[in-house]
Amino acid sequence: MPIRDQLLALTDELRRLKSGGQRAVSVSDETLALLREAVVVEQARAEAGTEKTISMGKEGEPLSIPTEPPLVQLPAGDKQTRWNALHALVLNHPVCRAHVRPGKKIVLGVGSLGAKIFFCGEAPGAEEEMQGEPFVGPAGQLLTRMIQGMGLRREDVYIGNIMNWRPEMATNSDGMQYGNRPPTSLELNFCLPFLRAQLEIVEPQIIVALGATAAGGLLGQGTFKALGDIRGRWHQFAGKPVMVTYHPSYILRNQSNRSKRAIWEDLLQVMERVGLPVSEKQRGYFR
Ligand code: URA
Repeated sequence: MPIRDQLLALTDELRRLKSGGQRAVSVSDETLALLREAVVVEQARAEAGTEKTISMGKEGEPLSIPTEPPLVQLPAGDKQTRWNALHALVLNHPVCRAHVRPGKKIVLGVGSLGAKIFFCGEAPGAEEEMQGEPFVGPAGQLLTRMIQGMGLRREDVYIGNIMNWRPEMATNSDGMQYGNRPPTSLELNFCLPFLRAQLEIVEPQIIVALGATAAGGLLGQGTFKALGDIRGRWHQFAGKPVMVTYHPSYILRNQSNRSKRAIWEDLLQVMERVGLPVSEKQRGYFR
């Protein structure tokens, strides 16, 4: 039922109670939050319905992102049941749907729901929004090789992003979007509850933040000047240790052994912390 009809039904019921002599009703915080979210979602749906193209607002801020992040309530049940519910929620969320381009996909994390390691990137790119899976483009292929270097398969870990759709950019005359940009703080804050819910389901031992945007989203934007100041060290998010390292796309742009060694040293720390065996050969990569 549309929110407008629900609100009309609610006011009718309140009127009925009042005419029957009831002076007060108690409303839980949870119900108020649900009501607030329903209004925000309806607003986004209405805006999406009237938007022909998604355009950039003032100072590059995309339009139609509610300032109120979504309230995510996972159902009871096993990990798969809860993940399926979250997947359905994100894929059907009007705000996500309003921002994903026609024919492209909203992207939630993938991998083992019992993973010890949760890799967190920035946002889907062109390949990811086509396939609906994080890290499947060139940076993703490198991430997969890094995971294999750790003696794991891609399916053994969980891979997600701070954001669930490809941040919109200007389009060319054919209506094709070109390039990528990092998510804005509004976009990050909006998608953060979806990331928290994935962490709640997977319950990893460790989060690996890939790059400055992921680190900023988890540790707080403005809490560090440069990635180099915080990478290779342990931080905390949602009660979990976070290792901050370079984004694989940085390695694709900067193929020096020094940068490969830096990211590898961070991953060696991760391996040690989750109790994975580290061979002499692995210890010596990129030396
Ligand atoms: N870069 C990211 O941060 N995430 C992806 O899913 C792909 C590229």
